[in-house]
Amino acid sequence: MTRKIAILPGDGIGPEIVAEAVKVLECLNTDMDLGLEFESGLIGGCAYDEHGTPLPQQTLDLCKAADAVLLGAVGGPKWEPLEHAVRPERGLLGIRSELELFSNLRPAILYPQLADASTLKAEVVSGLNLMIVRELTGGIYFGQPRGVRTLANGEKQGYNTLVYSESEIRRIAHSAFSIAQKRNKRLCSVDKANVLECTELWREVMTEVSKEYPDVELSHMYVDNASMQLVRAPKQFDVMVTSNMFGDILSDTAAMLTGSIGMLPSASLDANGKGMYEPIHGSAPDIAGRGVANPLATILSVAMMLRYTFAEATAADRIEKAVNAALDAGIRTADIYSEGKQKVSTAEMGDAVVNALKNGA
Ligand code: NAI
Ligand code: MG
Repeated sequence: MTRKIAILPGDGIGPEIVAEAVKVLECLNTDMDLGLEFESGLIGGCAYDEHGTPLPQQTLDLCKAADAVLLGAVGGPKWEPLEHAVRPERGLLGIRSELELFSNLRPAILYPQLADASTLKAEVVSGLNLMIVRELTGGIYFGQPRGVRTLANGEKQGYNTLVYSESEIRRIAHSAFSIAQKRNKRLCSVDKANVLECTELWREVMTEVSKEYPDVELSHMYVDNASMQLVRAPKQFDVMVTSNMFGDILSDTAAMLTGSIGMLPSASLDANGKGMYEPIHGSAPDIAGRGVANPLATILSVAMMLRYTFAEATAADRIEKAVNAALDAGIRTADIYSEGKQKVSTAEMGDAVVNALKNGA
């Protein structure tokens, strides 16, 4: 069996962190005979420089032919003056919509070795391990009509439309329920059904789909309460599922409960489990090219790839165990460094994870 992975390093620290994740995949590929094959492409600012577009056709073709995509990050000050249509971010949005990656998985895990990084009290966040499932291709970010118009009285009016069809809600529901099934069998659906009709339908469809997953306990929560609960008592949640805009905001809140942007992976999946995997952080132009970026978010993203696209749970578990072993050994990149630990470079952190894999993780 061959499994094709499209490798898109992108801009800034992207190439540095992706190289380490590929190193980890290559180690497991040899060790476990996973049949992984890699092919690289350009995306973002570097693609614009070479081809005049952030998402060249050959990159899109590469992603379509692949089973999974590994992305570093895109963007940077060099490309900020560009008009929106050719900005680096457009490359990401293009892949998401072309591949119909509607299910965005955003785990927030607090590693006990890094408990000090959170700004919240240890008892509130210690042991935190939650998953937010965000609908990614619908809702108010894409709804029509949209725009800014001028009214008869000359006043300007901005407007966007919140719209979800039953089938869009149903497919994100199935995605979230099946993830909840693989975890602790609790799913909290977040909406604003008391005010927005669209999310009343959301709640109805979630409830209907829940009948197909009798082993998963479904609860509902209004988004304003959910934002309070995430900060007050985040460990009450296991899997949360929500619409595009609510998920955008709540997943960033959840991420910061852990305090470490360099540690957080993500996945964006289609209906068949094909997916794009990337760290949640950006291209960090302030530290790019210095070999100091933390590659663990990207390494943990390939663990998600093995788990969700390739159904290789053992390989995924091994990577997560190896990351823990490196942290246990006191190995830290600068962003997670604290007194008494060993400060290492991007490549040394990748090596530490590979060594942990070779030593039994
Ligand atoms: P950022 O996430 O790139 O950086 C925020 C801060 O976190 C910086 O101080 C950076 O040095 C640090 N940081 C981020 N990742 C790190 C890592 N792996 N190791 C150590 N430190 C890390 O966000 P920012 O500065 O707002 O954006 C920079 C560029 O990245 C912009 O052009 C933005 O548009 C783009 N961006 C791209 C994303 C993507 O490709 N998915 C997501 C977010 C931003
Ligand atoms: Mg956001």
